[in-house]
Amino acid sequence: MDEVFVEQLRGCGLVPVIVLEQASEARALAEALLAGDLPILEITLRSAAGLPAIESLADDSRWTVGAGTVLNRDEARRAIDAGAKFIVAPGLDEATVAYCLDRQVPVTPGVCTATEVQRAFNMGLRLLKFFPAEAFGGAATVKALGGPFPQVQFVPTGGINAAGLANYLKLGNVAAVGGSWMVTRELLAARDYGTVTSLAATARAQVQASRRQ
Ligand code: 3PG
Repeated sequence: MDEVFVEQLRGCGLVPVIVLEQASEARALAEALLAGDLPILEITLRSAAGLPAIESLADDSRWTVGAGTVLNRDEARRAIDAGAKFIVAPGLDEATVAYCLDRQVPVTPGVCTATEVQRAFNMGLRLLKFFPAEAFGGAATVKALGGPFPQVQFVPTGGINAAGLANYLKLGNVAAVGGSWMVTRELLAARDYGTVTSLAATARAQVQASRRQ
């Protein structure tokens, strides 16, 4: 199950981290990302619109919608019941991870130290969010964690933008890079979906260029 999700993530190389104020905007945003060749969305539960937005997109197979900022087991349950196809958390909560594994839904908790990676690894996880990436040493730290944990793939997230993307994409243990730079609050508030599409397309081109090297 995890392998299928890792392959899908690797194929895309990006996870846009989304905070929606209005669930009714979810579809236009998903269409804009898809137009930029980005079919994966992490909709966070940081706003009340998060769950209904996930629910409104969950049945459309053109994209894969997951829930982000899932802080506990109960939030994971609600997100999965709403149709979330993957669960992302800023940190490692073992009850949340165990619950997602039980429901057979991929879960990507945030880690930033070897101790946390080891704990997640011992729960059977092989795909982890490295968060907050830029503040915790960036690509150099991801690379260093690859020494003792060669089986683990990371999704670095936190403080990354278009300029920093390439540093992560060149690492073999990075499945995808996450962030809000393609879907900022400002762009969403302005409903500037054209810019979302163009930022997504630019990032996807960077992913493809990095894979050709
Ligand atoms: C997250 O929850 O993953 C982060 O808020 C995303 O980080 P960014 O906004 O710095 O890209």
